Amino acid sequence: MERIGVIGGGLMGSGIAEVTARAGIDTVVVEVSQEAAQVAEDKIRSSLERALSRGKIDEAELAAVLGRITVATDLEALADRDLVVEAASEREDVKLDLFRRVGAILEKDDAILTSNTSSIPIVKLGAVAGRADRVMGVHFFNPAPVMQLVELIPSLTTSPETLARMQAFVTDKLGKQPIEATDRAGFVVNSLLVPYLLSAIRMYEAGYASAADIDKGMVLGCGHPMGPLALSDLIGLDTIRAIGISMYEEFKEPLYSPPPLLDRMVDAGLMGKKSGHGFYAY
Ligand code: CAA
Ligand code: NAD
Repeated sequence: MERIGVIGGGLMGSGIAEVTARAGIDTVVVEVSQEAAQVAEDKIRSSLERALSRGKIDEAELAAVLGRITVATDLEALADRDLVVEAASEREDVKLDLFRRVGAILEKDDAILTSNTSSIPIVKLGAVAGRADRVMGVHFFNPAPVMQLVELIPSLTTSPETLARMQAFVTDKLGKQPIEATDRAGFVVNSLLVPYLLSAIRMYEAGYASAADIDKGMVLGCGHPMGPLALSDLIGLDTIRAIGISMYEEFKEPLYSPPPLLDRMVDAGLMGKKSGHGFYAY
């Protein structure tokens, strides 16, 4: 795994690219437009500057990491990659289109195509990619440079060799801690986390308490690093809504169904921290 591609340079894609470039790997990030590519590059730079200001890296390392990252707007830039991590928006139509196209672009027979999806069935992505045995889920957590966990999700069609290669890569090359999950919407962590976040939104919607008090309750009462509404803002309200819909479609469990307030906030463009406004203003 010497050459890596990341599709999407949003919250997760930019963080994943930072992780791979800091691990010494040549990394190409593909975005939808020149403007989005510039935003992705700026995000990576400012995250590295934060690491510099905290004394985690020095100036030379910052320059070296940036030198390993190329941002592009054409999927063809992924042709020579050994591994691609798709981290585009949580929309099944977008991901199916990307897997169909990138599956045909990859030149190396043993190249692996993975998705950072939170909830979309991996088997469907493998089915359109023309290399179903070399497709699997590799789910990083937000913020990717900080969170140690990576969920590995082989589908019914992923080969044991692909899973073994990704286990070795995540552990030995990235220094992260993998857990394995089956290809069910939400995998392990979101199956537990998303109903909790949606319950907090319902609680706020029903007027039980203020957003600040709901969050304070879980931070001071349960020792969580942040409360559920601040965490929802960090993840992105559009992403949480999309995950809830996928999980509801799969299990028909009412706790997974996004509450009306979440729908209205997303329709209003209140996506959380990334848009500057969610349950809090940023
Ligand atoms: N990028 C890079 N580094 C970051 C960062 C970012 N976006 N945010 C924080 N950091 C680093 C800081 O530089 C700092 O590093 P050092 O201590 O080594 O100097 C460290 O993280 C702590 O940051 P802060 O002191 O600024 O702030 P904090 O202590 O409040 O921590 C937090 C911030 C790490 C985000 C913490 O609040 C936290 O862990 N929150 C919970 C995050 C969480 O639950 N993530 C999972 C979301 S669910 C998901 O990802 C799956 C999905 O599919 C939706
Ligand atoms: P985001 O909205 O911050 O970024 C998505 C990016 O994808 C945008 O910059 C967009 O321009 C780009 N994009 C959309 N279509 C594209 C295409 N066809 N080609 C290239 N780029 C494209 O979203 P995010 O939070 O980074 O989420 C990305 C993926 O990671 C989703 O599948 C999400 O479920 C998953 N995920 C999110 C989190 C989180 O906390 N936000 C955590 C783990 C996993």
